[in-house]
Amino acid sequence: MVMQKQVALFSLSLLLLFLSHSTTTVAQPAAPPVPAGPPNITKILEKAGQFTIFLRLLGTTQVGSQINGQLNDSNSGLTVFAPPDNAFSSLQSGTLNSLNDEQKVELVQFHVLPSFYSVSQFQTASNPLRTQAGDTRQNEFPLNITTSGNQVNITTGVVNATVANTLYTDNQLAVYQVDQVLLPLSIFGPQTPAPAPAPEAPKNKKRKSTVAAGPTADDKEASGAVGVGAHAKVVGVTVGVAWLAALLS
Ligand SMILES: *[C@@H]1O[C@H](CO)[C@@H](O)[C@H](O)[C@H]1NC(C)=O
Ligand SMILES: *[C@@H]1O[C@H](CO)[C@@H](O)[C@H](O)[C@H]1NC(C)=O
Ligand SMILES: *[C@@H]1O[C@H](CO)[C@@H](O)[C@H](O)[C@H]1NC(C)=O
Repeated sequence: MVMQKQVALFSLSLLLLFLSHSTTTVAQPAAPPVPAGPPNITKILEKAGQFTIFLRLLGTTQVGSQINGQLNDSNSGLTVFAPPDNAFSSLQSGTLNSLNDEQKVELVQFHVLPSFYSVSQFQTASNPLRTQAGDTRQNEFPLNITTSGNQVNITTGVVNATVANTLYTDNQLAVYQVDQVLLPLSIFGPQTPAPAPAPEAPKNKKRKSTVAAGPTADDKEASGAVGVGAHAKVVGVTVGVAWLAALLS
């Protein structure tokens, strides 16, 4: 009697095992092809398009590979605010040029939060939020988030930006398109020497002529950025983007 029960249980579990196994085997071909490995910030932004300048900054500052390294290693996740090319071209000309290499790294890291935030998690986040730029220095490079329903606004103390679009999200990485470059108060605030527009003007002229006169190895990349700016009606904006691109490359 006991023996029979055991045999019955055993065959039942074998049957269940077979069923569950065959179910997953059947389900697998139907699943969409998921790229192997962790998400890659470069691939995500390349696929989204219109992020040429931010991608270049991620490259030159090496923050891009830092992000991908973190996605490989950590369980905590990341949030990236990505400004498209038109956000960069609407910056006052000379803005990026005024930054040294360390400040460029800080600027890019300021667009990265060291944890994953979904839109609904922003609604309960408490300000100020730490960014990757302030990761090792508390109270530096914070930004504030305000939400209203699914609308997410970001304040740096210098700019008020809005999340325009979700480019990518899983439970580890969220990439949001923002309508403006997030300028940190620590760099662009009144207490530190901010980029002054007036003295920059003669410098701009020089750089413009340099770009026009000397085609370099970066020529191809620079002209790509001109294409981005080609929609701009003001010639100055287009030229500004061109030398910005030359500067960044
Ligand atoms: C977000 O910013 C927009 C203007 O850019 C404003 O109209 C809206 O009220 C803001 N919402 C919140 C929740 O701050
Ligand atoms: C961010 O929020 C904190 C806490 O509410 C506040 O003290 C700070 O002034 C805010 N900063 C900006 C730039 O809005
Ligand atoms: C950002 O919004 C605040 C109010 O929400 C306003 O006082 C401030 O002037 C705005 N800053 C910019 C740069 O638009």
